[in-house]
Amino acid sequence: MNILDGIAAKKIVPLVSFDSPEQAVPLADALLAGGFDSVEVTFRTAAGAAGIAAIAKERPQMFVGAGTVLNEASLEAAIAAGAKFAVAPGFNPKVVAAAQRHGLPFVPGVATPSEVERGLDAGLTLLKFFPAGPMGGVKFLSAIYAPYRHTGVKFLATGGVSEANLAEWLACPAIAAVGGSWLAPKDDLAAGRWDAIAERCRAARRIAFP
Ligand code: 3PG
Repeated sequence: MNILDGIAAKKIVPLVSFDSPEQAVPLADALLAGGFDSVEVTFRTAAGAAGIAAIAKERPQMFVGAGTVLNEASLEAAIAAGAKFAVAPGFNPKVVAAAQRHGLPFVPGVATPSEVERGLDAGLTLLKFFPAGPMGGVKFLSAIYAPYRHTGVKFLATGGVSEANLAEWLACPAIAAVGGSWLAPKDDLAAGRWDAIAERCRAARRIAFP
């Protein structure tokens, strides 16, 4: 299964930033308890690579990826940690090319038609739409999508997705899936509120898979 089909089947990719790698396995267990077997772990904190490595080793059933991959060094750290995919907020041609050389599925961020075309030029069929809410939400993405629909490209929307707007995002034909931090916010990770995270996952799944 390619990355587009794989992520589209999941509909929602939880996104987390760890303060400590020790949060990784309990978080993975909370997501699994809530029905999710994928997670994007950002490189926004120093614990990102170690968190990915812990999940890849201890919970190999998880489809774990790296987020906020801004350069080749982070990409290589993500691969070494066992990431199965990587995501970035923007479109860096050097990082896109490096991911392709390594054979790692990579989802760069775009927010304009010209950036969508850079993605198409690079042979990508899944692009991240970021920051999805502030850029103009479903209305804006639908307008961008109209001239590219026939290419088969689809989007992973992140940035402002929540339980409140999840149904609207998932109903948009441009969307393969959505991502977001609302399922596992930093405060819950810090306080070890794993049941609250699992419950939020269940609530999201009731919307995504009615
Ligand atoms: C991202 O990196 O995709 C976003 O920061 C996630 O946005 P959210 O925190 O609004 O879900």
